[in-house]
Amino acid sequence: MTEKRELRVKPIVNGTVIDHISSGQALNVLKILGINASSKYVVSVLMNVPSGEMKGKDVVKIENREIDPEELDSIALIAPRATINIIRHYEVVGKHRVDPPREVSGLVRCGNPNCISNTNEPVTSRFAVERSGDEVNLRCSYCEFVIDQDIAEHLL
Ligand code: CTP
Repeated sequence: MTEKRELRVKPIVNGTVIDHISSGQALNVLKILGINASSKYVVSVLMNVPSGEMKGKDVVKIENREIDPEELDSIALIAPRATINIIRHYEVVGKHRVDPPREVSGLVRCGNPNCISNTNEPVTSRFAVERSGDEVNLRCSYCEFVIDQDIAEHLL
């Protein structure tokens, strides 16, 4: 019998598929996109999918919503190898790599408890994104504190 019985999640008709997300980061990707229980979109989340080139990957499929790839660049902070696929009538009509933005605001909490962005002042956190090879560091624009690992742990 040649029937292929394995079917994880169906192809979508229209929308955005974020593929090659670092294993375990799918929920943080949704957090960055502001997608939560009150969002109206149909969203499928796959975690720890075996993948040839990566040890395992996560995939997020958002139906009937085409997300502007630039809006997705912040994802590069936690999933540098993510690819964005725009789907129209089942076909992949656009494929983009994420590219870390130069600056991020209001996304990450500074690790310095005394930073002005951690006080009661109405100050939005802001970091310069510094890249060296595959590594991404965040430098606080207020106090110069550097987040050089586990950026996902610092998401606001
Ligand atoms: N996909 C989907 N619905 C569609 C078309 C594609 O959910 N109608 C998903 C696929 O399951 C895959 C991603 O979108 O996770 C990209 O599709 P495709 O480019 O066909 O796959 P690959 O060639 O494996 O992609 P890549 O080269 O980026 O690994």
